[in-house]
Amino acid sequence: MRIAFAKPGLPKGGTIAVPVSEGGKLGPTAADLDRRIKGALTRAAASSRFAGKLDETLSVVAPRGIGCSRVVLVGAGKIGAFDALAAQRVGGALIAHLARSGETDVAVALDIVDGGSTGTAECAAHLAHGARLRGYRFDKYRTRQKPEEKPSLRRLTVQVPDPGAARRAHAPLAAVEDGVVAVRDLVSEPANVINPASFAAAARELTALGVKVEVLDAGKLRKLGLNAMLGVGQGSAHEPKLVILQWSGADRKAPPAAFVGKGVTFDSGGVSIKPAQGMEEMKTDMAGAAAVLGTIRSLAARRARANAVGVCAMVENMVSGRAQRPGDVVRSASGQTIEVVDTDAEGRLVLSDALWYAQDRFKPRAMIDLATLTGSIVVALGHEYAGLFANDDRLAEQLTAAGAATGERLWRMPAGEAYDERIKSDIADMKNDGGRWGDSINAAVMLKRFVGKTPWAHLDIAGVAWTNEDRPTAPKGATGFGVSLLDRFVTDCYEER
Ligand code: BES
Ligand code: MN
Ligand code: ZN
Repeated sequence: MRIAFAKPGLPKGGTIAVPVSEGGKLGPTAADLDRRIKGALTRAAASSRFAGKLDETLSVVAPRGIGCSRVVLVGAGKIGAFDALAAQRVGGALIAHLARSGETDVAVALDIVDGGSTGTAECAAHLAHGARLRGYRFDKYRTRQKPEEKPSLRRLTVQVPDPGAARRAHAPLAAVEDGVVAVRDLVSEPANVINPASFAAAARELTALGVKVEVLDAGKLRKLGLNAMLGVGQGSAHEPKLVILQWSGADRKAPPAAFVGKGVTFDSGGVSIKPAQGMEEMKTDMAGAAAVLGTIRSLAARRARANAVGVCAMVENMVSGRAQRPGDVVRSASGQTIEVVDTDAEGRLVLSDALWYAQDRFKPRAMIDLATLTGSIVVALGHEYAGLFANDDRLAEQLTAAGAATGERLWRMPAGEAYDERIKSDIADMKNDGGRWGDSINAAVMLKRFVGKTPWAHLDIAGVAWTNEDRPTAPKGATGFGVSLLDRFVTDCYEER
């Protein structure tokens, strides 16, 4: 779908969409249109209980004489509360409504009355952003799509008084969109396509954007002593890889932000094998690593004036005669030993080495990891918030603020010493499982032992990386969670303005 910005005006054909705020108040374009078609819009709204709430849409077949084939009323929510996130939802709702409608062209007249931010370049850009994100599809494996299932919409034109300003405001958001799309593609791919090596190949493509890409193979990881990570991968036919991405947009000496991602390309559970029911979802267990890739991609594409590194820890957790056993003890890169009491608690093993490596090599100003780490965080927070754990209050606040601004919401959980007792081992420095209760916290307090003094935050994204139902700006499937959030975090906390 192509996105364009233009000055207001009734298009000659296609669909015209008009946002309507709560209570049914029409903006200038809508009111003018309504007058020309003798009140058909007001009547349609009233007779179908269209109230202007966010996510609401109503199609009205246009009477002869106005050129367009239909008018779509799209709810814009409360007057005065129309902000960037509301604009994204309007764009998303519109695309969901029209994507397969048979329509090819839609123009949105973004001029609802509220005396505030509507009609601004910023809102126009965010409307387009929401549309692009919601319009995502992953249908490369569908070879027998019926015509009515195929997308028809080709072009979205957002009408605003200053189209140039809107285009400029949209440019950095387009970089984020491309990052999110990259993540969704990688997470949607099955595990017979995405393995540590093919993920690394996808990462190498970022070189074209000026990203420095390095791939450490198993031999190198052995030399560096990343045994906790290697142990998880030892049952797989695909050898582990550590993929390192560096974006340098600021002074060479400025310490970077480090993003570390769990990249388990398939989590069978290993010898502590998972139940068959739903195991196919474990192809998404690399969503953290994908989010790291997507974030670096976004920063590079918009040439962010900041330094950032991404460390993607790629392994496959499989069962075989060579697989790690429950009870095995591994010596991690940090020197600390870990008793592997459950091979299905593999994420914390992989991350303990990746976090140690990242802080040791890059001395980052702050380090943030993303991981589909525990079922326990889904029990606690459902699919609305990701869990946030941190050893630094300021970093936690910065991330929470970025989450609120982008709609990728975070909820802080404890990670204090009270939980240390849970992961005591009889044989090693710690064990990788502290039992059922508060498991997402047990996992986090283990990770905390591998970050040294670096300000660090851990995002448990197990509940938000995938959605089983359509969301305002994400169709069912991989969400791409993390890219908008971290891109915003870098903008607000690392880039000079
Ligand atoms: N990858 C899973 C966590 C997960 C669960 C991600 C649901 C996405 C959706 C993780 O490796 C895992 O298996 N965790 C176990 C830990 C337990 C064995 C201590 C869990 O949460 O059950
Ligand atoms: Mn697991
Ligand atoms: Zn896992």
